[in-house]
Amino acid sequence: MCGIVGYIGPRPCAGILVDGLRKLEYRGYDSAGLAVLDTRASVAGEPPRLDVVRAVGKLSRLDDALREHPLIGNVGIGHTRWATHGRPTEANAHPHLVGEVAVVHNGILENHVELRRELVAKGRKFASETDTEIAAHLIDIELANGASSLFEATRNALSRVRGAYAIAVVSRKEPDVVVVAKSFSPLVLGIGDGEMFAASDVPALLAHTRDIVFLEDGDIAELRRSGPKIQRLLVHGDGSPERFTVTPVVRTPRRVDWSPSQAEKLGYKHFMLKEIFEQPAAIENTLRGRVVLESSDVDGTEIGLGDDAVQRIRRVVLLACGTSHHAAIAGRNWIESLAKIPAQVELASEFRYRDAIVGEGDLVVAVSQSGETADTLAAVRDAKRQGAKILSIANVVGSAIPRASDAALYTHAGPEIGVASTKCFTAQLAALVLLSVWLGRRRGVLAPERAQRLLQGLVEVPSQMRAVLEQADACQRVARRQIYAPEARDCLFLGRGLSFPIALEGALKLKEISYVHAEGYAAGEMKHGPIALIDAQMPVVVVAPRDQHYEKIASNVQEVRARDGRVVAIVTAGDSSISAMAQDVIEIPEVDPELTPFLTVLPLQLLSYYAADLKGTDVDQPRNLAKTVTVE
Ligand code: F6R
Repeated sequence: MCGIVGYIGPRPCAGILVDGLRKLEYRGYDSAGLAVLDTRASVAGEPPRLDVVRAVGKLSRLDDALREHPLIGNVGIGHTRWATHGRPTEANAHPHLVGEVAVVHNGILENHVELRRELVAKGRKFASETDTEIAAHLIDIELANGASSLFEATRNALSRVRGAYAIAVVSRKEPDVVVVAKSFSPLVLGIGDGEMFAASDVPALLAHTRDIVFLEDGDIAELRRSGPKIQRLLVHGDGSPERFTVTPVVRTPRRVDWSPSQAEKLGYKHFMLKEIFEQPAAIENTLRGRVVLESSDVDGTEIGLGDDAVQRIRRVVLLACGTSHHAAIAGRNWIESLAKIPAQVELASEFRYRDAIVGEGDLVVAVSQSGETADTLAAVRDAKRQGAKILSIANVVGSAIPRASDAALYTHAGPEIGVASTKCFTAQLAALVLLSVWLGRRRGVLAPERAQRLLQGLVEVPSQMRAVLEQADACQRVARRQIYAPEARDCLFLGRGLSFPIALEGALKLKEISYVHAEGYAAGEMKHGPIALIDAQMPVVVVAPRDQHYEKIASNVQEVRARDGRVVAIVTAGDSSISAMAQDVIEIPEVDPELTPFLTVLPLQLLSYYAADLKGTDVDQPRNLAKTVTVE
């Protein structure tokens, strides 16, 4: 994972780089560091200095280190780390300085073992356990061997590595240049007025520019104050007379419509809480311009499938990881119930490593907030190779998964900074309902009256969400009483039908931010094992809105109560039977049974948030996690 930044321009860069890293801290926060070129000495004919400051822990530790050792200069690079190779120590923190070169890197160099062995045999000494230091050595060697520029040296060095990287390099030898390159890890450029920025993700640049270049895999760029020079590096396999070729490319900047304030907390204690409360607006943005009530239909232009192609779909395969996988499970149910197309959901991390069979007639729907998750991207590429059509549902415009797809339906939920996904989950749900209705209408299996009721219900969801969010205080009380309670060490989440993925999501949220062990289960599976866990200490959160599963789940609640389990029930307003059995009840408004997930997930997000906040964990940056998983 990790986040990288770079700057070249007229302004002192240390503050700009640290602010950029702060916006990327969600990508990793084990250690951080900066390398800055101080060119003041060159005025007096001396070579510029290249100073590095690094610190273990969060960015605040780097701030402290920079107060002790300020870095002065207008050209620099920075890094916030999620440890892959080597523990989070200062020696393993980036930037890595070798000779006259400093490097920051996000990704994994797969042939690091053989390269390190080769470099050690040549007498190279390593100061860290990281794969990144290998890249720094390779660039340093290229410069020593007479490469005409830092760009050329970096290009030659990168032609030797395999794997994923987003890399930024500076050198004392060429102090008016930052070289960056991308292969499988995300990297964007920000175009300023007489200044240039690079970063792993757009929010790091929003305070300075909204003109963004999304680099492609294989791009290598030389950044000068005046702008970027980009080339495409194509490394040939063994046996080719030339090891690689490069061709100049033009990448046109896109103006992104995210505002800098969207990447701020705006008075909320945590990004996660702000993002929970942003969900009604996020859904409005996902629906905007796509719901056409007049014709009981969805404008699916972006889905990019003609009528014939829609008729030819034999199966929909949804690919995703983590929270997005939970949205995909709900999506599968909607595609089957509304579009009557056989659908299956796959964990991308499993799909890509088995001999999964997809091909013509399959519509693969990749669901990813970041659009960069390595497993989902690899699964998409595999499905595409096999001839499937790929539609991605992503939040980050121009990210790798949409680029690898035939078409993209963006969720437009705005930047999500909290590591635990909330608003992007419900925005994904909205996109999946839109897709299902669109498919159902095109295939003639969804009656206009039913589509109309559903779309009308969807349009009303944001205001119903606002009503649920007004119960935040009640959720906080329940979190204190049931989950934060000292005797509650585990928690079970149960649901059926569309409430099953919501139970999974509730359990994942609780685990990841509060470190309370939680399991999400299909309530019908209880008797097949988990019921053994239930005792008077065990909180059981039951997602039981009024729908076709209500009576069945009411029986499950009885089974829990018969074993003294403590029940927190999420029910529809006016419910009496399950409410009567539960210790705590949180109500959602009456809604079309197909749309309950939008409302039932909100109390679960709030329960997790408040449980974590009561425990005092780091809600926005939970331990061991990073938001964008760009490694396998
Ligand atoms: C959990 C969470 C993760 C992501 C997963 C996939 O709150 O955020 O489980 O959902 O890493 O990420 P995307 O959606 O970016 O592909």
